[in-house]
Amino acid sequence: MVYKTGSEPMIVYLNGEFLPKAKAVISVDDRGFLFGDGIYEVVRSYHGRLFELDTHVRRMQNGLQSLRITIPDDFNLADIAHELLEQNNLQNAEATIYCQITRGIAPSRTHAFPVPPLAPTIYVAASPFTPLTEKRKTGVAAITTPDQRWSRCDLKTIGLLANCLAKQQAFESGAVEAIFVRDGVALEGSSSNLFVVKEGIVITNPKTNYILPGITRQVVLDLCRGLGIATKEDTVFLELLFTADEVFVTHTTGEVMPVTKLDAREISSGAPGPITGKLQAAFTENVKNIS
Ligand code: PDD
Repeated sequence: MVYKTGSEPMIVYLNGEFLPKAKAVISVDDRGFLFGDGIYEVVRSYHGRLFELDTHVRRMQNGLQSLRITIPDDFNLADIAHELLEQNNLQNAEATIYCQITRGIAPSRTHAFPVPPLAPTIYVAASPFTPLTEKRKTGVAAITTPDQRWSRCDLKTIGLLANCLAKQQAFESGAVEAIFVRDGVALEGSSSNLFVVKEGIVITNPKTNYILPGITRQVVLDLCRGLGIATKEDTVFLELLFTADEVFVTHTTGEVMPVTKLDAREISSGAPGPITGKLQAAFTENVKNIS
């Protein structure tokens, strides 16, 4: 067992080894660096308990399969995550686990996959996390922005340039999230899924190639069912956002985050709504039951 006091270097996992972050070095020939050729996951750890780990792992496996990246059979994210939490003294703290897998280090920069396949580069890190409790109480502002991403937004790839540009635009507008709009449809945030409440019904876009199948999104839909709140997976047109009773976004780190202002216009009363509040409370209860 390794205990940190706060001054020791962060320990990360790279390709089978646990080592100080400064020593975790990646080749400039890595296809993640050259092409953004890889996928990632972010998992929330609540005092050492990993929330929805199995569903994160399943989404990662689907992503790897779509990208045709093969990882060793014995790769076990749960074991690595727990080891990292322990080595970084985060097992009783709020934390996030970041996992990134790329196609690996190619001998030359050619777009097509090298033959034979490369050993993938696998990186996992555990970081302390400060819960966004205050923002969840007050709600946040968002902006809308044209969706400039590619058409496989269902894959959690590390190619996040459009998301970064959108998030930066939000920050420069005094907001915290940017909602991507494509052909009049408000799809999702730059790092979150989008929900609207209208006349008591919780509405979110159906799972298509234009949104990420968010883990928190599914948890929230399941919570609605448990609470007897009607849900609809239906196209969210931009106009609906401005006439909604409530708007919120969901993501691993933000959980259920009320959006109270959109493009500088208040949503409904300008305060987080009652259904959003119920879902936040149910989410918090749900977190207590992680096995
Ligand atoms: N982002 N949509 C996008 C584009 C996202 O990047 C994310 C998550 C979500 C929500 O997915 P989930 O509920 O599984 O976290 C939706 C992560 C947290 C990130 O990039 O940091």
